Amino acid sequence: MGRPLIIGNWKMNGSLKGSEALIRSIQSALDAQGEVDLCICPPFTLLSHVGSLLAATEIKLGAQDVYHEDSGAYTGEVSLPMLKEMGCQYVLVGHSERRQYFGENDASVAIKVAATVRHGLTPVLCVGEELATRRANRGEDYVLAQLMAGLSLLEGEVKEIAIAYEPIWAIGTGQAATPLQASAMLRAIYQLARNKVPAGQVRLLYGGSVTPENAAGFLAAEFVGGVLAGGVSLKGESFAQIASLAGSKTYV
Ligand code: 13P
Repeated sequence: MGRPLIIGNWKMNGSLKGSEALIRSIQSALDAQGEVDLCICPPFTLLSHVGSLLAATEIKLGAQDVYHEDSGAYTGEVSLPMLKEMGCQYVLVGHSERRQYFGENDASVAIKVAATVRHGLTPVLCVGEELATRRANRGEDYVLAQLMAGLSLLEGEVKEIAIAYEPIWAIGTGQAATPLQASAMLRAIYQLARNKVPAGQVRLLYGGSVTPENAAGFLAAEFVGGVLAGGVSLKGESFAQIASLAGSKTYV
């Protein structure tokens, strides 16, 4: 499946001063980076600053959201050309917190995914079910419906897309999915995504309460090509530990 991808989503956290210390502690705790792609997604206000801190490193920059129009009267929004100008290569799209608190839905997610690809950035399409849905045995159907919708407007050649399976019940709860659960869902995701995107261009991530302690289990699981980390990405040493683990994983 190629190089693992480890993304840190800072969510609405971070400051000018704090980000400097955080990047420094990631860098100093990082073993020789190995065969792994690392990306950090700070809030919009820190993109420029974090981007310049990362310029001398191999770590890539990503955004937590985007608006699909290039420019215009869309107060409060940020466009793909703006993100490109900041040096972003990745964009999280459809994170469950955007869906839950800010009215993001399958239709807007699909438009954003397609626009991100059109502009040559890599979308990280986030999908995931609630606990009640999983308990009712409808988790896979729900996630695959989100996926189908999210990919529905893609056209032309897709260079790269990442899909993050983030079960809502595992986000910020300390209760991660098991590697087996993540692997089973990502297998189903992969099989469906393959119809839309060439197999080699899809990167599959697990997210939800990832820690240095449980990361190895996820990274060793079939179909898991990396992780999307939240809380732990705010701790330099822990995030670097996960990255180093991923860099030492041997893929078959
Ligand atoms: P936590 O790692 O804090 O559970 O967050 C996961 C997440 O939402 C990453 O996008």
